[in-house]
Amino acid sequence: MAYSAKVMDHFQNPRNVGKIEDASGVGEVGNAKCGDIMKIYLKIENDVIVDVKFNTFGCASAIATSSMATELIKGKPVSEALTLTNKAVVEALDGLPPVKIHCSVLAEEAVKAAIKDYYDRNGIEYDAELFGESGCSNCCHCD
Ligand code: FES
Repeated sequence: MAYSAKVMDHFQNPRNVGKIEDASGVGEVGNAKCGDIMKIYLKIENDVIVDVKFNTFGCASAIATSSMATELIKGKPVSEALTLTNKAVVEALDGLPPVKIHCSVLAEEAVKAAIKDYYDRNGIEYDAELFGESGCSNCCHCD
C-alpha cells in the first residue's frame, strides 16, 4: 500500500497533538468500521478557532488525516470549519489508498462533533442537519 509523502509526514510528525484544558468544544468519535477513536479540542474566540488539539487512537491514515484536519481549521471561522469534508482532507494529503478512505471520515466527524459541543455549551442555535450525515457519501468503500 503506497502512502503519499504528505501522509507519511503527518503520520510521523503529527501537528497539534494534545489536549486543551479549557476547550470551548470537545468532540469524540469512533469509527464504526474499525473501532478507532479520535478526540478533538477546539478553543474558539469571537467565532474563530484560535487553537486546536487532537488525540487519535488509530491507524496511520487516521492520525495523518486528523493532523491535516487540525491544520486546515486552525485560525478559521467556525462556519468555515463546518464545511470541512473528509474529501478535502484526503486531497490536502495528496490522496489515500482506497481501502483507507474510511479512516478520513473520523476527522471530519470529530471536528463537527466538537463544533456541536461548542454550540450546545453556548446555547447557539443551529440546523441539526449540519450534524447529520458525514461526507462519507463521497466514499464508496464504507460498505
Ligand atoms: Fe481505523 Fe483507519 S483502520 S481509522
